[in-house]
Amino acid sequence: MFEGFELIRLALDTEIKPFTCGDSEIDGFLFDDAKTSLKDRTSVTYILQDAEKTIAYWNYINDKISYTQLNNEEKWYDRIASAFTKDIPLRSYPAVKIGRLGVHIDHKRQGIGTAILDYTKALFVDNNRTGCAFITVDAFQKSISLYEKNGFSFLSNADRKGKTRLMYYNLESIK
Ligand SMILES: CC(C)(COP(=O)(O)OP(=O)(O)OC[C@H]1O[C@@H](n2cnc3c(N)ncnc32)[C@H](O)[C@@H]1OP(=O)(O)O)[C@@H](O)C(=O)NCCC(=O)NCCS
Repeated sequence: MFEGFELIRLALDTEIKPFTCGDSEIDGFLFDDAKTSLKDRTSVTYILQDAEKTIAYWNYINDKISYTQLNNEEKWYDRIASAFTKDIPLRSYPAVKIGRLGVHIDHKRQGIGTAILDYTKALFVDNNRTGCAFITVDAFQKSISLYEKNGFSFLSNADRKGKTRLMYYNLESIK
């Protein structure tokens, strides 16, 4: 899946190799906040690297999709709850959020972002340690096409003019 690169899970003693994805907020998180976040158990970061540099990184945070985010019984059933076997819809479903995702500027449009999404789908379906029905992401407007191309949908229209849009992928579609 990540041919030619090494995949590691960030540890407190990891030496982070140079990285820029062109977005200072995303670059900054890797160098300034990822280890603190690991220590505080608020996110776990994965890094793809070669001998010289960080090729890409992303992180995961526990999340949920909840009825209150739609606030409409019919839409909740149509978009979310109808996919499940249980007759009575739950008021929320467990999810994992991709908190940050960045690909090095020299390696964009080579399918790495897509490979990371495929890896994430497999990671939370195969031998999953906890119940997890959705992947969520607060997608920057400029990255929406990546997620749309990989099967993610908008949860609501309320954030259509926002800096980010909440998008979700239903892991139930992977059997
Ligand atoms: C967004 C980002 C992660 C995409 O990574 P990537 O490895 O280039 O993505 P892929 O090569 O898998 O792209 C898959 C598809 O997504 C779409 N896409 C990706 N980047 C795009 C861009 N800048 N503009 C328009 N479409 C884009 C295209 O449809 C692309 O398919 P194509 O290359 O066959 O046309 C990367 O550009 C990045 O790090 N951006 C800066 C940080 C950021 O915005 N992160 C997202 C936070 S939510």
